[in-house]
Amino acid sequence: MLAVAHRFSVAPMMRYSHFPARQLWRFLCPPALLYTEMLTAEAVIYGRREQLLKLPAEQQPVVVQLGGASPDRLAEAARIAEAMGAAEINFNCGCPSPRVRCGHFGASLMKTPELMARCVEAMAAAVQVPVTVKCRLAVDDMDAETALDDFCRRVFAAGARALVVHARRAWLDGLNPAQNRTVPPLDYARAYRLKESIGDKSIIINGGINTVEEALRHLIKMDGVMLGRAVVRSPYMLAAVARNIFGITPPERCAALRYMLEKAAQSPPRTWSQYVSALAGLFHGEPNNKYYRRRLALPQAAALRALCEE
Ligand SMILES: Cc1cc2nc3c(=O)[nH]c(=O)nc-3n(C[C@H](O)[C@H](O)[C@H](O)COP(=O)(O)O)c2cc1C
Repeated sequence: MLAVAHRFSVAPMMRYSHFPARQLWRFLCPPALLYTEMLTAEAVIYGRREQLLKLPAEQQPVVVQLGGASPDRLAEAARIAEAMGAAEINFNCGCPSPRVRCGHFGASLMKTPELMARCVEAMAAAVQVPVTVKCRLAVDDMDAETALDDFCRRVFAAGARALVVHARRAWLDGLNPAQNRTVPPLDYARAYRLKESIGDKSIIINGGINTVEEALRHLIKMDGVMLGRAVVRSPYMLAAVARNIFGITPPERCAALRYMLEKAAQSPPRTWSQYVSALAGLFHGEPNNKYYRRRLALPQAAALRALCEE
């Protein structure tokens, strides 16, 4: 059975799940499982890993999401990520972007389940931490009934400990990544059937979940829920998650703002735009949101200074 953190996770999102955002999310909801943005195996092996894999103990548990299609390179990247502090390795089998498609990884791997399984086996053999997979219901005109069942069985047979299902199909031709997150219809019932057929294996549902109430309804049928855009839009929803899913008292919005301003002040100026982006939705739905957003819209350094002076 998975750890309690898997009951709720914040999705991996390129350009959003960066270090400063994870600081805010962790502060608001200590038990949630957080993900990095997808990192290619090559970026981890050859890139600036101190920046890409900054995973301090106070931010844990953090899952490092890897993309790639070479079992050897993925195993090496997983080993590096584990040594740098990854609590878990997640394998991206759901990204439909053209760049990823050219490399035959991401969602394309749903069409080559043997290769997906070899990649998972290689990573699972290389690390002690759990390896998990994130996928779609199907890709292009694949059959979302039999093909998804088969994919899922291979995922677990290869040694994965959980499967995150973004509950919509991806179209690799004709839709861009943003459209692929809105146009193909959500089909939660299909994800529920998968969970019923796979029994005691952990299946986490993702896609279009906007509120804690919706999350709680999914948790009746599924092992965990993963939310992405709703958290970016309104990070303070994590306070409701802390209270209603984990039973702990969350901090106030202003405490979160103060905490983040302190962290920004201790961080290099090149990271300030990420602090501004992480904080953008903090007062979403509040009467002072417009005033706050006007302050954040100032050039980054001035925005952070102005908020400090409030
Ligand atoms: C800007 C953006 C970037 C994303 N980047 C990734 C990524 O790096 N890896 C991944 O598996 N999914 C990525 N996704 C997909 C999300 O993880 C999630 O599956 C999707 O947004 C559906 O969940 P939601 O409706 O709760 O946002 C991204 C989504 C967005 C909006």
